[in-house]
Amino acid sequence: MTTARNWNPGDPSRLFYQIRQRRPLLDRADGIYLWDRDGKRYLDGCSGAMVSNIGHGNRRVLDAMRAQMDRAAFGYRLHFENEPAERLAGLIAGLCPPGHEKVFFVSGGSEAVESCLKLARQFAIARGQDSRWRVISRNPSYHGSTLGALAVTGYRPLTDPFLPMMQRMPSIPAPRCYLDRDGLSDSERGLHYAELLRDKILELGPESVLAFIMEPVGGASTGALVAPDSYFGRIREICDEFGVLLIYDEVMSGAGRTGRYLAAEHWNIKPDIIALAKGLAAGYAPLGAMIADEPIIEAVLDAGGFQHGYTYAGNPLACAAGLAVTQELLEHDLMGRAIAMGAILQCGLRGLMHDYPFIGDVRGKGLLQAFELVADRETMRPLPAALNTHSRLVELAYERGLIIYSRRTREGLEGEHFMVCPPLIITEAQIGEIIGTLRESLDALAAELRLPSHNSLDVTPAAPLKATPGAAA
Ligand SMILES: Cc1ncc(COP(=O)(O)O)c(C=O)c1O
Repeated sequence: MTTARNWNPGDPSRLFYQIRQRRPLLDRADGIYLWDRDGKRYLDGCSGAMVSNIGHGNRRVLDAMRAQMDRAAFGYRLHFENEPAERLAGLIAGLCPPGHEKVFFVSGGSEAVESCLKLARQFAIARGQDSRWRVISRNPSYHGSTLGALAVTGYRPLTDPFLPMMQRMPSIPAPRCYLDRDGLSDSERGLHYAELLRDKILELGPESVLAFIMEPVGGASTGALVAPDSYFGRIREICDEFGVLLIYDEVMSGAGRTGRYLAAEHWNIKPDIIALAKGLAAGYAPLGAMIADEPIIEAVLDAGGFQHGYTYAGNPLACAAGLAVTQELLEHDLMGRAIAMGAILQCGLRGLMHDYPFIGDVRGKGLLQAFELVADRETMRPLPAALNTHSRLVELAYERGLIIYSRRTREGLEGEHFMVCPPLIITEAQIGEIIGTLRESLDALAAELRLPSHNSLDVTPAAPLKATPGAAA
């Protein structure tokens, strides 16, 4: 007899995730909303984890998946090619800068990043540059939860426990210009942060540096960080100067979320290798991809093959989902919507800054938007970490039927930011709904913390807040 058969809603769960926390049972999802079994409706204000780009319950995607399931749900890639994978690869290559002709499918973002790192290394070996192995990354950053991806991640609660188990890679500061209080112009700051890469390459010895990995628009570790325009081109030049591969982690920013298929397009940059996931199949199936320049792939294949792979790589069902999602994205001009609705959302979030002086910054691109709470807007001094504001505001919004996503912006240790990244199908009225619920939640937070409405805040809480420890990732 198995106990699992007798499980009923409300019984203890045998599942576990990061934290000791129960959530309601999901009943159904449609468009930008999800409902629990009690009939309560939630607005998906962060597309899950910035995943559900085309919204929930899309008929075309569900039909395409059903049709594929009826033919074949699985065929191992070394035994069969499959049409959805071929067609999706062709579509993706056409949406990427010319030259990015080759696509390697995986099941998610961490796998995509691991694949990028391993392809870069095997390319160096194929070129006779065995001495190149260091991958420089930015701090803070998030590139995934597997040990290779963690080695290039800058988010201490996630990396610190595993330091003895991995080869920690070097990093440079992420261009968090909004924290800088200097006399530099935006453009000068962008160049200043880019030069830190050059300095680091010279310090390490260029012959040892394999690649530089960056999120073109920051994700959960920085809260939608956008560098000054001058940063992007200079980084590309520095990589070229030293023969260092440029890897763009577009796991969160890609697949249309920022208003272009790749965020790289905003700055006309052609990275050497790209990681994609999340919005690619938009939550309908686990799917990610690595996209690379053809000469890189050819060199690795000529040298004996890519020594890497996953059982579910190129899975026909996941690729059928990704294909239908991408067709929806293109046919309904959802990238255009991301730009238009992103501007309205950013305007609404900036509007909140008038009434809530403890919002220190609003930033982002397209529908990858975030706001950050601070104790003092002038200096950007963070709220005391013990207040756990990052988890508390999420709970207050959740109680009111709005789902947002929070992390800590200062290497995961302090600083509170909140991602507001709804599906790209969102309407202006629904953005109004988000802003209205955020207002109610911020009012509740201000009341709990006794936050006065001026810039220098007394952040003594009225009552101890319910902490949600370890809510990272
Ligand atoms: C930029 C970036 N890279 C990699 C990952 C890891 O993706 P996954 O959780 O699908 O493994 C994430 C996830 O949030 C991400 O935002």
